[in-house]
Amino acid sequence: MTHTAIANVNIALIKYWGKKDIEWNLPLTSSISLTLDAFYTKTTVTYDPTLTADILLIDDEIITGGEYLRVTKYMDKLRKLYSIPFYAKITSYNFVPKKAGLASSSSAFAALAYAATKAYGLNLDSKELSSLARLGSGSASRSIYGGLVLWHEGHDHMSSYAEHLTHMDDLAVIVCLIDETPKKVNSTDAMNRLNEYPDLKELWILSTQDALNDMKEAIIENDFDKMGSIAESHASLMHYIIQETGVSYLTDQSFKVMDLTEKIRNEGIPVYYTMDAGANVKILTKKEYVETIKARYEKLSKVIVSYTGMGVSSL
Ligand code: DP6
Repeated sequence: MTHTAIANVNIALIKYWGKKDIEWNLPLTSSISLTLDAFYTKTTVTYDPTLTADILLIDDEIITGGEYLRVTKYMDKLRKLYSIPFYAKITSYNFVPKKAGLASSSSAFAALAYAATKAYGLNLDSKELSSLARLGSGSASRSIYGGLVLWHEGHDHMSSYAEHLTHMDDLAVIVCLIDETPKKVNSTDAMNRLNEYPDLKELWILSTQDALNDMKEAIIENDFDKMGSIAESHASLMHYIIQETGVSYLTDQSFKVMDLTEKIRNEGIPVYYTMDAGANVKILTKKEYVETIKARYEKLSKVIVSYTGMGVSSL
């Protein structure tokens, strides 16, 4: 009745931004991500027949309010789907700056889906586990797997799941931690604004479909420069779209990191940036260049280097 799981964070190279079904958390488009080894969540779920509600502890703090509601509502869905009659004590530790645009919800709900089903003795296959993680947070569907991962948008609960594409061991991501405080508008609320802008939404869907096809091609061809430049322009488009819906995540410091990346690239080193719902900038590069360029980013911000991570597992 108890199980502990560890799941890594992933960053999207082709972004998920916007939902076509809020209740089932179905995305507007498919997306592609890279699982990182430096940031993860460790979660223990213990079912207890004497409990009358779930108990949630994150980083040794008892959680109430909105964050608790999100998790307990998720557990209600999971209990309903798998006929689990018990409430649970959920203890979670984040080895990632929470809510700072580093997608801690991806590792959090992947670890929770895995621990909560295993604790009840269920052995879901990765595909089903991915759909289940998606119900908690879309990006969590991709953290079930290591390496490069494709999340199929699908049209209902079971057809919207992620799958492992390939493992590229020579990739590295330099995460520039520009702002570690929680963001002002969370990604769920920000992306739902897109529904009020039909033209922008259309532009986003079509561009993302094109970028996704190009990215798949680049991955098959093992063409890092192509992957990097598609990821970079796609992330810039996402931030343009976000800005048009009245939210702004990037700061002057983010732009300085992006400018530095272009400068280093002009010197012949393959570096590309991508940003999620926050000010932090992630630099995609290859392992062999990390030592040469890291110090230049450290002049602008705190830096954490990450490599390709594995999928969710038991501890
Ligand atoms: C910018 O997965 O946090 O990181 O499904 O509402 O929980 P919810 O959204 P979430 O959104 C992630 C958005 C993103 C891009 C991405 O990871 O694809």
